[in-house]
Amino acid sequence: MLNGLKNLEYRGYDSAGIAVSENGAIKLYKRQGKLANLENEASLQKVTSNTGIGHTRWATHGIPNETNAHPHISGNVTLVHNGIIENYNELKAFLLDKGVTFNSQTDTEVACAYINYIYEEMKQHFNEENLKLKAILKACSDFRGSYAFGIMFKDEPNTIYATRKDSPLIVGLSDDGNFIASDISAILEYTKRYMLLDYMEIAKISTDTVTVYNEKLETIDKKINEATWSATECKKNGYDHFMLKEINEQPIAIKDVYKRYFENQDENYDKVDFSKYTNINIVACGSAMHASLVGKYLFENYANIPTTVDIASEYRYKKQLLTPTTLVVIVSQSGETADSLAALRISKEKGATTLAIINAVGSTIAREADITIYTHAGPEIAVATTKGYTTQVATFGCLAMNAMKQKNIQTEFNKEKIEFDKIDKILTSVIANIEEYRKIAKYLSDKNDIFFIGRGNDYNMCMEGSLKLKEISYIHSEAYPAGELKHGTISLVEEGTPVIAIATEKELYEKTVSNIKETKARGAFTILISTEEFKDTYTEDFADIALFLPTTTTFNEGIVVVTALQLIAYETAKLRGCDIDKPKNLAKSVTVE
Ligand code: F6R
Repeated sequence: MLNGLKNLEYRGYDSAGIAVSENGAIKLYKRQGKLANLENEASLQKVTSNTGIGHTRWATHGIPNETNAHPHISGNVTLVHNGIIENYNELKAFLLDKGVTFNSQTDTEVACAYINYIYEEMKQHFNEENLKLKAILKACSDFRGSYAFGIMFKDEPNTIYATRKDSPLIVGLSDDGNFIASDISAILEYTKRYMLLDYMEIAKISTDTVTVYNEKLETIDKKINEATWSATECKKNGYDHFMLKEINEQPIAIKDVYKRYFENQDENYDKVDFSKYTNINIVACGSAMHASLVGKYLFENYANIPTTVDIASEYRYKKQLLTPTTLVVIVSQSGETADSLAALRISKEKGATTLAIINAVGSTIAREADITIYTHAGPEIAVATTKGYTTQVATFGCLAMNAMKQKNIQTEFNKEKIEFDKIDKILTSVIANIEEYRKIAKYLSDKNDIFFIGRGNDYNMCMEGSLKLKEISYIHSEAYPAGELKHGTISLVEEGTPVIAIATEKELYEKTVSNIKETKARGAFTILISTEEFKDTYTEDFADIALFLPTTTTFNEGIVVVTALQLIAYETAKLRGCDIDKPKNLAKSVTVE
């Protein structure tokens, strides 16, 4: 169980705990901070048990401490929970009124106490089988919000019950025991076979049996899936960090995206008929939203389809102007991001066709969208996305090429133009440039504020580069359209402030150079990131440092530049001694609103 939690450590957490059944009793072990603190707990070393539930907590309600850590216990019930119970205050008031007491500040303890309350009530009135299943389902029907629960009962300590709504949960099956986990990567070293639970389904699990029930408590046959990811793919394999490993996996991952498209290996591309859609609405969070901005650029500039990009956390609270000819595209590496999932559901409810661009196979968004195109980037363990983002950009490239084909727009973008045969070598050469990135990182590592500027698609790359830098190195940085800086923000430029300018577009290059000069005139230390075709135009009077990357097609330029920016962020964070794979305050999969 501790190993399983360790495999998910990368997702970010601030406390950990397990509950195990031992000699007919349920014992609890919890520690604040890293899993190692829990592992070092002396009494835990002596536990012999084959049933338990464990959890790493990323605090939402109540500070990260031992009391707030999961599992929580209330009467007969011990439970771990991912998600948020939104009406916990209401339920807590109800339970307090009934004399229930609480130790923690969490919504989870309320859920635990509520299930216990319903179970005890039912016990007094009914004397039938399946009372625990009934109590859990009744309690869940009163919960608002999201949850994946692993539940044990004191009076049946060798059984685990599991159920979910909107938070991921899988049931792993093996000859040596059965598992529940929020992600297959937790248990890959024990089994590749797993079932996915749907809303209002509940699994009853023991070491040798798994029974899944629907809400009517009928047993149901669930499909058994076989994971395509292997346990070794989830290891560092000699790299210092998962982030570096994943950056190095991009040449193959990108080539594979193009290969699936050009060699017609993914029929889902042709399920999207772009000639039917008058507009596209892309919805995503964070880096996936940045990849979506590149998607917008490609759809508008090459396929002439008006495209908007929405931040998923804003989407459900605004008016969605969807028509029957709007294609809604949801982009998500994990396929479990709560806000993106909510955007998908609203769009479907409103009758739009939905397309999902997803990495994690079988994830909730992938299953619920009308059409899903997988990026097949493989497991991404580092919290900061790298290959997740670039494979999304490459997928948008393929979709834009298909849209041009379907709309009979003259397109020069074919296999040769996209440099299909070379893209892996180009990216490998970009990654090999490490000394250049170290030089820039050395300059950035002791700075407090950094600006990224660029125009057009270069601005989209600035946004991703800036996010990467701030999330792993903790240096404040901002991305600005190069022409916008002088409308206010340039007041922050001081002697030595680093300004990183991305200039790869022919029509915009000179304009961006003028903007770089404006910052240099105000004392900025300017770093130009451009492509080899502009090398001859470079003089030190506008850029203190210049980095020229291989010139390739617009479809790939973003991937090439962002790969370099990922490495600059990586080297900067390394110099600052940051926890690169697990940056503070962040979680890999944001399954709460
Ligand atoms: C940044 C990062 C996040 C994610 C965002 C969306 O490096 O990883 O900004 O891109 O949380 O996650 P997914 O793609 O899983 O929906």
